[in-house]
Amino acid sequence: MVAALVGSSTLAGHWRWRHCIPMRSYLAALVALAATPILAVAPDPPSPILTTQDAVDVLTYAQPAVARVTHVDLDLTADFAAKEMRGTATLSIIAAPGAGEIRLDDKGLVIEQIADAQGRPLTWTVAPADTYKGAPLIVKIGSARKIVITYHSKADASALGWLPPALTAGKTKPFLFSQGQSIENRSWIPTQDSPGIRQSWTASITVPADLVAVMSGEQLTPKGEAAAGGMRRFRFRMTHAVPPYLIALAVGDLAFKSLGPRTGVYAEPATLAAAAAELDDTEHMVKAAEGLYGAYRWGRYDMLVLPPSFPYGGMENPMLTFLTPTIFTGDKANTDVVAHELAHSWSGNLVTNATWSDGWLNEGFTTYFENRIDEIVYGKERAAVLADLSWDDLQRDLKEAKPSATRLHGDPEELFGELAYNKGATFLRTIERSVGRPRWDAYLRSYFDRHAFQPQTTANFLADLRANLIRGDAALEAKLQLDRWAYQPGLPDNAVHVRSKTLGEVDGAIDQVKAGAPVSAIRFTGWGTQEWQRFLNGLPRQLPAGRLAELDGAMQLSVSPNAYVRSAWLVLAIGNRYQPAAASAEEFLPRIGRLLLIRPVYKALAGQGDWGLSIARPVYASARLQYHPVTVVSIDKILSWKPR
Ligand code: BES
Ligand code: ZN
Repeated sequence: MVAALVGSSTLAGHWRWRHCIPMRSYLAALVALAATPILAVAPDPPSPILTTQDAVDVLTYAQPAVARVTHVDLDLTADFAAKEMRGTATLSIIAAPGAGEIRLDDKGLVIEQIADAQGRPLTWTVAPADTYKGAPLIVKIGSARKIVITYHSKADASALGWLPPALTAGKTKPFLFSQGQSIENRSWIPTQDSPGIRQSWTASITVPADLVAVMSGEQLTPKGEAAAGGMRRFRFRMTHAVPPYLIALAVGDLAFKSLGPRTGVYAEPATLAAAAAELDDTEHMVKAAEGLYGAYRWGRYDMLVLPPSFPYGGMENPMLTFLTPTIFTGDKANTDVVAHELAHSWSGNLVTNATWSDGWLNEGFTTYFENRIDEIVYGKERAAVLADLSWDDLQRDLKEAKPSATRLHGDPEELFGELAYNKGATFLRTIERSVGRPRWDAYLRSYFDRHAFQPQTTANFLADLRANLIRGDAALEAKLQLDRWAYQPGLPDNAVHVRSKTLGEVDGAIDQVKAGAPVSAIRFTGWGTQEWQRFLNGLPRQLPAGRLAELDGAMQLSVSPNAYVRSAWLVLAIGNRYQPAAASAEEFLPRIGRLLLIRPVYKALAGQGDWGLSIARPVYASARLQYHPVTVVSIDKILSWKPR
C-alpha cells in the first residue's frame, strides 16, 4: 500500500515536471548541446523528486514543488590570497505554473547581482541566517528559467579548506579542497542544497597557473587552458543528475598516476608513488563491486589524496573519491576505506538518502557493501576481521548513546557517531543471513537498478523490500523485524555478529595482559592496523603506569607512524593520565584533521579535567587555525571552545 502510494505520487510528480518544461526550449537546448562537440552528450532529463512527508528535508530552504534547480553551471576563480571563490553560478530552473520565486540555500555567500539569461537584473532577498543551515536566498524569477548569480564565497566558508603551503606534502604551494556533505556546499555554491534535489552540473574553474584543479566529474581539459592574467582554467561536467553535496573541487600541486583502464590517483608529487602502490587493488575492487550489484555507471573511478587535515577518511565524490593520507600505512591495511567510498557509487551516489534523516541508506548500505568487496578482494578472514571490529564499534556506540539517538531513521543532528554505519550494515547482513546470499544479492542488484539516480527514504526501501523480496512470506516478515530495525532504538535480537579467528587470537593476548603476563610473553608478530585496534581497544581501561610504559617501550606506541594505532593508544594512555602520552598527543593532534582519529583523543583529554585540558587547549589553540571548518565545529564542542 505504502509502496503503491509513494510510487505513484513520485511518478505523477515527475510527469508534472516534464510537462512544465516548454518543449521547444528543451529541444533547442538539446540541439545546442549536440552542436557543441565537447558537450555531445545530453544531460539526463530532470530526475524525479519524492513528495511524501518523510522526504521533506528540514535542512534546506528549498521548496522544490514550487521551483527547482536542474542544472548548475559554475564559472569561478580560486583567489588564494583572499580565500574566496568568485564568479558566477548559472542555474537552470523548472517551476510550477505561476511560481513567482525560487528558494535557494545560502550560507554566508556574498551575492553581488542576480540576472536572467539576457542580463536583466532580478530582485532577490536573503532572510536572516541560522548558524547551521544558513539562510534562504529568495529570487523573484518571473518567467526566467535560467538565472545568473554573481557572487563570491567568504574566507570562512564551511565547505572549503584553504591550506597554506606548510600544511601540504610539498610545502611550497597552497591547497584548496571542498567537502560538501552534509549541508556545507551552500557556503560556496548558491543552489538548492538538498540530497533529494538532483542536479547535473558543469564548471569552469580558474586557478593560478602552477596549480591543477580537479572535480567530481568528467575532466574536459586535463591539462587546463591558458586564461587571462597568467591563470589556468579547467573545465568539467557531470551529465548525471547528482545530489549537490557531491559537487567537489580540489586545487593544488597535483600529479596523476594511472592504476588501471578506468582507475587512477591524483596526489602531490611527493606522495604519488607511495599512494599508487597502496591503491593498486582498486581496479580489482571496481570489478568485484560490479560483479555484486551491477555496472559501475560513472565512467572513471579516480582517487585524490588530500593533505592530512582532510576531516574524513574518505568522501565518495563521484568519479573522484577524496582520501585522507592516514590510510597509507605501507601495508594496504586500510584500503577498506577505498572499498567503502567505491561502494557509495551505488549506495549514496546512485540511490541517495532523500534527507539526512535517512543517512543510514547511504552509510549502512555502504558499510555492508564495502565488506562484501573486501571479502572478494582479500578473502573471508580479512572481511570477518573488519566486520568484527565494526561490531565492536557498534557495541561501544550503543553503550554511549542515549537510546533515541540509536535509531536508524532519526533526527540527523542527534544521530550518534557511526551508528548509522554499523547498525545499518548489521541490519542488511541479518537479512542476508535470513534469505541466503543468492536471493539477497539478486534483490539488491535489482534495487539499485530500480532506484538508480533517485532519492530514497527508509519507508520506501522497506516497501520495496516487502514487494520484491519478502513477497507476503509471513514467517520471513516476522523473522526479520524490519520495523524494529528501522525505527526502534537499540539492537534487535536477530542481529548477526560476525566473529573473526584472527581477532579471537588477539583477545587471547588481551587475556594474557589481564592475567599479568609480561608484555615480552605476548606475540605481536604479524599484527597490522586491525589487530592493534582490537588489542588497544580491548585492554582494561584502567592500567597502572608501569604496565603502560612496558607496552609503550615494547611497541613504540607513542611514536607509532600508524595513525589508527596512535589514536587508539592515546585514548587508552590519556584515560590513565600516562604522562608520556602528552607529548605524543601534542605531536599527533595538530597534523591530523581526520575526525575519526582525533575526536576520540580530544574527548579523552576533555574527560580528564584540568590534566587533560591543560594539554588539549594549547594544542588546539594553534591547530584550530589549520583545521578544516568541519573539524573546528566538532572539536569546539568537545572542548567547549569559545572563539574570541
Ligand atoms: N560520506 C562519508 C563521509 C562523511 C560522513 C562526510 C558524514 C560528512 C558527513 C564517507 O563515506 C565515510 O563514511 N568516511 C569514513 C570512512 C569509512 C571507511 C568509515 C571516514 O570518514 O572515516
Ligand atoms: Zn560513507
